[in-house]
Amino acid sequence: MIEDIIEIATASGDILRQLFGKHHEIEFKGNASNLVTEADKKSEKFITECIIKKFPDHGILAEESGEIKKGAEFMWVVDPLDGTTNFAHGLPIFSVSIGLQKNNETVAGVVYDVMQDIVYSAELGSGAFANSAKINVSDTTLLSHSVLVTGFPYNISQNPEQAFEKFTALTKSSRGIRRLGSAAIDFCYVARGVFDGFWEVYLHPWDMCAGKLIAEEAGGLVTDFNGNMIDIYSKRILVSNGKVHSQMIEILKTNLNKAKVKN
Ligand code: IPD
Ligand code: CA
Ligand code: CA
Repeated sequence: MIEDIIEIATASGDILRQLFGKHHEIEFKGNASNLVTEADKKSEKFITECIIKKFPDHGILAEESGEIKKGAEFMWVVDPLDGTTNFAHGLPIFSVSIGLQKNNETVAGVVYDVMQDIVYSAELGSGAFANSAKINVSDTTLLSHSVLVTGFPYNISQNPEQAFEKFTALTKSSRGIRRLGSAAIDFCYVARGVFDGFWEVYLHPWDMCAGKLIAEEAGGLVTDFNGNMIDIYSKRILVSNGKVHSQMIEILKTNLNKAKVKN
């Protein structure tokens, strides 16, 4: 099955690569920051048609078209273009993310970093790979030696979940923070030890289904901000190498309006 997922993800990535840098018809989903282009739609159409043709009994949960065959044993969870804002502005950091669940458990995941032509993949219990090379999380033990990554939801202007205060506190406590604009790639960079931790609020199942499995199979830990195990519908996600996890939780679980932020 993983080979099928890789084939579909890379072929849809080829569609995105051909459209990258060209003029895009941009539409807005709810607010001026939440974009959708014809590339999102073309990629998703291609992916869903491939799945329906090859696996007619399987369900699909896809960002732009919603859910079909809810309750099916196998469910494909699809982000046809993760990093739409980057794509629309000509920044070559975006991906295709396809996870496969069996009875609500993710059993396989592929994130295709389109412009770097890197296929991140994992099957449950079999490790994680970047192209054919096995990948592992970092062994950094101190938050102060860690480089972290995060993203912001489209309602960031309302500062949900004290997102700005948490960003400030973690900036002060770590070596630095990056914001790449593709959550699926953020997961994979933790999986291959580039970043030591990643947190975000209000991600969607399609942002995290494949990346969560890839990070876990690379030895990473994925929880909410209290350290509890989560599924792909969780609204708070923390991914790390496991070793800096509790240090990140100390900051993420704190109400920073009441707490004095360390300088
Ligand atoms: C977005 C990206 C971004 C994250 C947003 C997501 P989209 O997905 O993953 O990194 O910060 O929360 O919605 O809209 O480009 O598919
Ligand atoms: Ca996304
Ligand atoms: Ca998307």
